Amino acid sequence: MCLSSTKYKWVSVFALLLACSAAAPVEDGLLVNGDFETAPSGGFSSEAVFFDGPSTIPGWKSNGTVELVESGQKQGGMILIVPQGKHAVRLGNDAEISQELKVEKGSLYSVAFSAARTCAQLESLNVSVPPASQTIDLQTLYSVQGWDSYAWAFQADEEDVRVAFRNPGMEDDPTCGPIIDAVAIKKIYVPDKLKNNAVVNGDFEEGPWMFRNASLGVLLPTNLDDETSSLPGWIVESNRAVRYIDSYHFTVPGGKRAIELLSGKEGIISQMVETKPNKPYTMTFSLGHAGDACKRPLAIMAFAGDQAQSIHYTPNSNSTFQTSNLNFTARAERTRVAFYSAYYNTRTDDMSSLCGPVVDDVRVERSASYKIRLGIELILFFGFHLFVQA
Ligand SMILES: *[C@@H]1O[C@H](CO)[C@@H](O)[C@H](O)[C@H]1NC(C)=O
Ligand SMILES: *[C@@H]1O[C@H](CO)[C@@H](O)[C@H](O)[C@H]1NC(C)=O
Ligand SMILES: *[C@@H]1O[C@H](CO)[C@@H](O)[C@H](O)[C@H]1NC(C)=O
Ligand SMILES: *[C@@H]1O[C@H](CO)[C@@H](O)[C@H](O)[C@H]1NC(C)=O
Ligand SMILES: *[C@@H]1O[C@H](CO)[C@@H](O)[C@H](O)[C@H]1NC(C)=O
Repeated sequence: MCLSSTKYKWVSVFALLLACSAAAPVEDGLLVNGDFETAPSGGFSSEAVFFDGPSTIPGWKSNGTVELVESGQKQGGMILIVPQGKHAVRLGNDAEISQELKVEKGSLYSVAFSAARTCAQLESLNVSVPPASQTIDLQTLYSVQGWDSYAWAFQADEEDVRVAFRNPGMEDDPTCGPIIDAVAIKKIYVPDKLKNNAVVNGDFEEGPWMFRNASLGVLLPTNLDDETSSLPGWIVESNRAVRYIDSYHFTVPGGKRAIELLSGKEGIISQMVETKPNKPYTMTFSLGHAGDACKRPLAIMAFAGDQAQSIHYTPNSNSTFQTSNLNFTARAERTRVAFYSAYYNTRTDDMSSLCGPVVDDVRVERSASYKIRLGIELILFFGFHLFVQA
């Protein structure tokens, strides 16, 4: 776009600069009016505001029945949930909101948003940046607050994309349908492979956008493609989500981010790591608690190649995590490492929010025993040659 304007010789440098800055890709953080707190022309109404057809919700396009809801607003005797601030939108049957974004072609982006369901029925949200899309199931309540944040990633095939949220539902009750709030984006960097660790992003420091003040973490729903993962390197293999947590609101073993495993076998993260067949490896990782009053016991199942081990969290008195390991012999060029919670834990303070053990700082490296053996062999080898030469 910047280049094409150079053919207009009369365009001043200043105008060119303006054109170029207008084309800058979206910055990490909230989308334009991503929290729906910007008042529509005419102001917010204390009554439900329905938009049928072209909407006037600043920053967004809508299609179908999109309702701007306000915290405290009641519907059928129930108070509607607004995840953040005072306002959010509700999507009626087959309704959609969307926003156009300028992105960097070829880059990976993660869209994070908060969502709540309004009725007990199965509700879901189709998040898309065509041609990519995913339907996120909102039936499971992970937090007692009644809403959660989710992340979904896409590869930008174009510079101009449209992120859309659609309620695919066709409920009899038109006042049902999910509520959306706090829509943010983050460009995802895939961390480099380290020399002495076969695991990519083993410290989980690279991941989706998290609001500094959002205390529920971000759920990572099923995603089988490690090329488009909000958590680079990793996939979520299971039907249910795992929770991405930060050190501002949770206890995290290392750095600022980690993963909390939820709902037993229904929440599995895994990665295929590069290995050399028939060589011995050690997988090391931190296993801890999230500081969220999760009911004990906490335990995980850890997998590396053909080895599986259940490990209970039994830390030293003052520590919030322990270091555990699992030894295995690689059978192929790529080896699967995976984790899930051995139990189905809930919090002791509200008895219903899902919680579980925390995993962090996952490393896979050639076994120390192997390195020592190799060292001894080298010493013997060179020692022998020195001896022969003398
Ligand atoms: C609105 O959605 C309907 C049904 O999905 C579709 O046929 C129509 O083209 C959409 N309208 C606009 C303006 O996008
Ligand atoms: C987080 O902070 C922003 C402003 O920085 C505010 O608009 C938003 O309501 C806050 N969210 C929560 C959940 O408190
Ligand atoms: C979700 O929406 C996208 C874009 O509108 C569409 O191509 C896709 O088929 C939808 N997926 C489902 C499961 O409805
Ligand atoms: C645990 O912490 C307390 C107070 O900080 C300290 O007195 C105690 O020695 C610590 N115990 C261990 C085993 O580190
Ligand atoms: C793995 O091997 C290392 C060194 O060879 C050893 O210290 C460790 O205890 C082993 N781990 C397990 C779980 O057996």
